[in-house]
Amino acid sequence: MTRTPIDDRCSIEVHLEAEDLRQALCRDVLAGLTAVPKSLPPKWFYDERGSQLFDEITRLREYYPTRTETQILQHHVATIARRTGATRLLELGSGTSTKTKFILDALMAAGTLTHIVPFDVCEAIVQEAVPVLAARYPGVRVDGIVGDFEQHLGRLEMGDHTLVAFLGGTIGNLIPVERAKFLNELVDQMHSGDWLLLGTDLVKDPARLVAAYDDAAGVTAAFNVNVLRVLNRELDGNLVVDQFEHVARWRPEEQWIEMHLRSRQMQEVRLGALGLDLVFAAGEHIQTEISAKFTLGGIGNELGAAGLTLDEVFTDDAKDFAVSLAFKP
Ligand code: AVJ
Repeated sequence: MTRTPIDDRCSIEVHLEAEDLRQALCRDVLAGLTAVPKSLPPKWFYDERGSQLFDEITRLREYYPTRTETQILQHHVATIARRTGATRLLELGSGTSTKTKFILDALMAAGTLTHIVPFDVCEAIVQEAVPVLAARYPGVRVDGIVGDFEQHLGRLEMGDHTLVAFLGGTIGNLIPVERAKFLNELVDQMHSGDWLLLGTDLVKDPARLVAAYDDAAGVTAAFNVNVLRVLNRELDGNLVVDQFEHVARWRPEEQWIEMHLRSRQMQEVRLGALGLDLVFAAGEHIQTEISAKFTLGGIGNELGAAGLTLDEVFTDDAKDFAVSLAFKP
């Protein structure tokens, strides 16, 4: 781990060096593509191009989560600031902290904010965010952390009414057992009186859910196949992007959206860096993401099982998305 001070008010702590990332990619790809059925974890979507494509997704007409969550936050930040009295805001998967700025503004106005901790897997985005946040919130410490929320939660400092924000519905990328493990680890790390603000997408008409993950302009399809470009570049692969078709489907029994890449024909591919030769049957799928959708009751149960007390669930009028506020007793 290396911690680099930027000035007397900012620093960046890197828990994930390029070499760790590469090792994790090799491990995930080897395990995922030699398994039956084949799969890849969604975290490898987010290279620079993938992050840009995701940004484009958030502005699509069909993709309602981002704009709905933003509206919910705008509506309720003053309540959140008052109720939590948070001194520190720790954001998991902070990215450019676009939505978090509303919360930070409210905590600043309430006069309680002293410390901001943006945490993201992408070093470039943390490097960019830290000085921007420091300039916008004078007198507040900003310590960026580069890490993986499935590995590095144990290194996070909490207490003094820390508010942990995990927005966007990203918790839905974890299957239920991983979700429970993540929440338990997070609550272990929290002190009594710390808070969690959790964004989750809600179960709704499957046609709308599928459209959100299979937009007419094909941006989500481009985002999905981008993972193949990442493998080609990082692992010396020869996957042909056009040989795979984007598939999004709703799995009612699991209550999640699945994204897949479907091989258009029988094909052989090679990942040189892994010395791995793979055969795809015509129509064979690689699962690239699950995005779980929640019910209000389900969210309360999962937070309760992890040892949190639900304070309030904020939603939009159409009940498309939920932002839950809970504390550790
Ligand atoms: C960033 C994980 C919340 O699951 O909706 C968007 C990613 N995938 N379109 C989601 C995503 C396809 C997104 N999260």
